[in-house]
Amino acid sequence: MRAGFPPRFVLMRNAVPDRHVHRLLNHGPVTLVTTAHEGRRNVMAAAWVMPLDFEPAKFIAVIAADTFTRELLLASRQCVVQAPTDAQIDLVYSVGTTSGRDGDKFAHLGIQTSPAKTVLAPLIEGCAAWIECDVIDEPSIADRYDLFVLQAKSAWADDTLWKDGSWNFASGLPRTIHHEKGGRFFTTGEPVQARR
Ligand SMILES: Cc1cc2nc3c(=O)[nH]c(=O)nc-3n(C[C@H](O)[C@H](O)[C@H](O)COP(=O)(O)O)c2cc1C
Repeated sequence: MRAGFPPRFVLMRNAVPDRHVHRLLNHGPVTLVTTAHEGRRNVMAAAWVMPLDFEPAKFIAVIAADTFTRELLLASRQCVVQAPTDAQIDLVYSVGTTSGRDGDKFAHLGIQTSPAKTVLAPLIEGCAAWIECDVIDEPSIADRYDLFVLQAKSAWADDTLWKDGSWNFASGLPRTIHHEKGGRFFTTGEPVQARR
């Protein structure tokens, strides 16, 4: 297992204003979804998460029916969606291939967390961004497509990686990740600016 992020990243977490929150996931990274309800907590990997609206920022996420995450999400109506980095790919793959029903992943994998501001679900240390969300009730698309609408309440980003409302994955710094299949990931690449 790759080592987790050093705690310094926790100290460098900055609030992201609502008008910029959609940009945290606009480039399509894999996420980690944390949930908590009545003393139980969980985390799973979720690649199928994307922005849906600007202000208030909303996202849609596919959360499969058989997951423990879905059970806690439905019970609590809250979660945290966070963007992990390439320093965490083994962790991402582990939480995406095991179920919290079989034991506490945080304890088993030594995942460090800190409290969120507006939800009970924890923030996973070492991620690049964290979005605390409420679930908007849309039972028909949940039943039919496993699709959940999430509305951001608070969001945070690591201030070495996120500057002035934009990602800044400089050489040597951690990068967000994109899943292809079977534990094979790409890291987010270099920015390329289009001209009008
Ligand atoms: C990289 C990766 C991405 C994944 N993306 C999703 C996703 O978008 N939606 C989903 O329902 N499951 C996804 N999964 C599978 C869940 O993470 C997996 O079913 C997990 O074991 C559920 O854990 P839980 O039962 O503790 O909630 C993904 C798995 C991996 C490894």
